Amino acid sequence: DGNIPHIFVTLGASGDLAKKKIYPTLWWLFRDNLLPSNTIFFGYARSKLSIEKLRANCDPWMKVKPDEKQRYEEFWKLNYYVDGTYDTRRDFEILNQEMEKHEKGPTANRLFYLALPPPVFNPVTVNIKNTCMCTKGWTRVIIEKPFGRDAESSKALSDHLASLFKEDQIYRIDHYLGKEMVQNLITLRFGNRIFNPTWNRDNIASVLISFKEPFGTQGRGGYFDEFGIIRDVMQNHLLQILCLVAMEKPASIHPDDIRYEKVKVLKCVDPLKLENCVLGQYVGDPEGEGDAKLGYLEDKTVPKDSVTPTYALSVMKIKNERWDGVPFILRCGKALNERKAEVRIQFKDVPGDIFHGKPKRNELVMRVQPGEAVYVKLMTKSPGMSFDMEETELDLSYHSRYHDVKMPDAYERLLLDVFCGMQMHFVSSDELSEAWRIFTPLLHQIEREKVRPIMYKYGSRGPKEADVMSSANDFKYYGSY
Ligand code: BG6
Repeated sequence: DGNIPHIFVTLGASGDLAKKKIYPTLWWLFRDNLLPSNTIFFGYARSKLSIEKLRANCDPWMKVKPDEKQRYEEFWKLNYYVDGTYDTRRDFEILNQEMEKHEKGPTANRLFYLALPPPVFNPVTVNIKNTCMCTKGWTRVIIEKPFGRDAESSKALSDHLASLFKEDQIYRIDHYLGKEMVQNLITLRFGNRIFNPTWNRDNIASVLISFKEPFGTQGRGGYFDEFGIIRDVMQNHLLQILCLVAMEKPASIHPDDIRYEKVKVLKCVDPLKLENCVLGQYVGDPEGEGDAKLGYLEDKTVPKDSVTPTYALSVMKIKNERWDGVPFILRCGKALNERKAEVRIQFKDVPGDIFHGKPKRNELVMRVQPGEAVYVKLMTKSPGMSFDMEETELDLSYHSRYHDVKMPDAYERLLLDVFCGMQMHFVSSDELSEAWRIFTPLLHQIEREKVRPIMYKYGSRGPKEADVMSSANDFKYYGSY
């Protein structure tokens, strides 16, 4: 884009998301010369802040190396800050005037990032629309979950946004779509010949998509308790992965074609039933260290009688020709034994077995984190004299194969995509409404009936009932993942 000015506005610049994610990401993109050369940054929030104060807020998260000090100074010289309320038109007019001072030429573009709590989404977007649209180029708006809390509230938000902006101006972040392995799903599936012929109900027994975190709410209990793990992780991150695993081959890699296929998959999923779920809530481990001693209900920001799940496993079925009958097991939880996010495709048992039941099932595992990897579990003859068999792995671990490639953070990729106008890795309003259709009846039932979650210990693998349900759904445990 040469010298066209780009203005990136962080609304909610004094908040947590801004200092922990947005400013660091902007700095790294700037440091690495990835942004259009004439990009400047505006912060906007209610508090009266100087750039020095804003900078001091962000400093601990910016990871500045000693030899980057000068570049870091240059970054902050390109920063501006305007204070104002979120619902006063006049304040946004001032923001607009301040931005126009930097847009003297014939073209300019603007990006607005809403690092804000949902109650102010509406007034802020109205004010952007009324006062801050770029008249010399494009305007793009980036928003983060929660996109409502059920089908109805999400639709209200989507309708509101659609009344102000075109869909190609709205960038809904699901940061899992910015992760290396999640993006790699499309390449692995459609850039290889060997997977596709077996990628179906005739060969695949079950698919396990998991997200595990070894820590609890960490002071975010207030937010978390209103949403719960299903809204926080399953309805967005895990469901997006399910779409990429299950979708048909898109007509092209154009964002519209990919999003179209994802919506088609979701349309084949019935609303989830409680009987196909296991819900859990962690309790403290008296023998654990530090935070591990504290259960969810001991978080001061969580109501004492909360039944909000911090763990959930759901079994979903996709009713189409490729997947009919194959369980997709989505599992996520906080305060578990490890940090891990992965997709595990488990193939069926070998038909006509001549090895007397010894072969384990093949598995294709895509590990999203930690340590990106793709590996296939195979049976081979034990090397040497014997004719026994053993399980081994065809293993592509990124840290050994690509040790000198810097793996960008998900937000770096996604924010850069917004500059480039690439919507491939963002969520469309159609996907969102299908996702809520699947989860809303279950969420309402849980809340209406105050369904009691099963207690599990901080640092454990979660409720045992979850393993029982996976096993009943054609998933065989060969380890304790
Ligand atoms: C967020 C959730 O979307 O994802 C958090 O709100 C969760 O609860 C986080 O901790 C996990 O992201 P990552 O990238 O650390 O796996």
